Amino acid sequence: MFIVFEGGEGSGKSTQVKLLYEYLKANGYKVIVTREPGGTKIGEQLRTILLQGKIDKMNTITEALIFLAARSDNWEKIIKPALKNNTIVICDRFQDSTLAYQGICNNISIDLLNDICSTITNNTVPDRTYLIDIDPVIGLRRSMRHCNKDVRFENKSIEYHKRVREAYLQIANNNDRYLIIDGTTTIEKVNNIITQDINNRLLKR
Ligand SMILES: Nc1ncnc2c1ncn2[C@@H]1O[C@H](COP(=O)(O)OP(=O)(O)OP(=O)(O)O)[C@@H](O)[C@H]1O
Ligand SMILES: [Mg+2]
Repeated sequence: MFIVFEGGEGSGKSTQVKLLYEYLKANGYKVIVTREPGGTKIGEQLRTILLQGKIDKMNTITEALIFLAARSDNWEKIIKPALKNNTIVICDRFQDSTLAYQGICNNISIDLLNDICSTITNNTVPDRTYLIDIDPVIGLRRSMRHCNKDVRFENKSIEYHKRVREAYLQIANNNDRYLIIDGTTTIEKVNNIITQDINNRLLKR
């Protein structure tokens, strides 16, 4: 089972990834966590390039290609082998981040991004995607509150983050692979929604 968390800055993805990981582990499942960009040594180096420094230090195509390079490494070294080994994979951001930020917001061809991504993953898509939806004003406030060096995207304009939010909703609406969750409720409530949903899905298999 391949589970992905998506959502804007500070929506609570990493918090919920950790809670779901602990929940599944405590219930005896084989489970790993990875993140994008990142997960591998190369991926984490690319993460630093992508998430630190000046907003305009590279153009949008360069940026998209680095995100995809990081995905390829994460896929080959972490995600693919784990899925093959019947391990549940929880990934903090994945292809829909590329589609929302680089595709819809930065106007890079969605077909091109989908082509590269499906080449990387051999057409594998997540089994379940949790989209934590939040007003970016609240999300960015949360994100900037704690000591965080990876703020290249946080530093983009509020209009950009509003477009990201709409892009995510556009991707997730009317597709039952996604569960859209209100990110403004408590950490515990969001976690309850997710564990209930995952229990329904695991029991069905
Ligand atoms: N439901 C919530 N209510 C209030 N605060 C929350 C909630 N969820 C997470 N937070 C807090 O908001 C901050 C950002 O959360 P987190 O790092 O999980 O978000 P994220 O989506 O991973 O952000 P980023 O996109 O920057 O990686 C943290 O300090 C976290 O404790
Ligand atoms: Mg995070």
